[in-house]
Amino acid sequence: MKRNVLVIGIGAGNPDYITVQAIDALNRADVFFIPNKGAEKEELARLRREICDRFIRDRTYRMVEFDVPVREKASASYRGGVADWHARIGDIYRGMLADEMQDGECGAFLVWGEPALFDSTIRILDAINASQALDLDFEIIPGISSVQALAARHRIALNLIGEPIAITTGRKLAEGFPENAGSVVVMLDGENSFTAVEEDVDIFWGAYLGTEDEILVSGRLREVSEEITRVRKAARQRKGWIMDTYLLRRTRGD
Ligand SMILES: C[S@@+](CC[C@H](N)C(=O)[O-])C[C@H]1O[C@@H](n2cnc3c(N)ncnc32)[C@H](O)[C@@H]1O
Repeated sequence: MKRNVLVIGIGAGNPDYITVQAIDALNRADVFFIPNKGAEKEELARLRREICDRFIRDRTYRMVEFDVPVREKASASYRGGVADWHARIGDIYRGMLADEMQDGECGAFLVWGEPALFDSTIRILDAINASQALDLDFEIIPGISSVQALAARHRIALNLIGEPIAITTGRKLAEGFPENAGSVVVMLDGENSFTAVEEDVDIFWGAYLGTEDEILVSGRLREVSEEITRVRKAARQRKGWIMDTYLLRRTRGD
């Protein structure tokens, strides 16, 4: 049996980020697979439910919750650790898709932000198809990423005129500021990697973008670095988790 699966980008925090295409897709799904993940799980699962309540009209649907395995950080290599983690998530997806979907039904994953950006759902579904364990037909609905939300909330353009942008992780930034990139967006930074940047850059930082807890700080990195570190720590303590991203820009605007 072929299983139809929708990978729906739900935007990065504000239910208003949902697109018309995503609303149409929500209204085609019979079963939603909802992840429980870490400290933020209740809040993010609540937002996913809120989106379904608000946008799905005149049809019944089911929610299947699953626990996301924790990534083994002590693994010999970063890539090896991630591959192992994806394999474990893949086993869970395979089990849910096999057991929870009836013939002719449509399943859906509600992906935070944009599914193509620092998210493993597409790769994992591809791997399930490649393993021939199940026959999946999946469709991707793009969403508004935290990168777009960051730019909009700071009212900035991401790139300087005619220049490229790099999108990277805190782990990579810690290895050095990307060469040839005037503008660098940093995601997944649990270690305040911006504090080690020596280049003279501006920073546009945002936490919990699109939500009622949103915090924005911007300025010359050397002048606001301590403030961001302090604000970030306090917010993290208050809520128990944090999601933040930032743009570093070598020259002062254009
Ligand atoms: C696993 S990635 C998922 C990215 C997501 N697919 C997207 O399009 O934004 C998680 C990272 O995205 C960033 N992020 C996601 N949502 C955010 C938000 N509402 N505010 C700030 N950063 C966010 C943070 O850097 C976080 O560590």
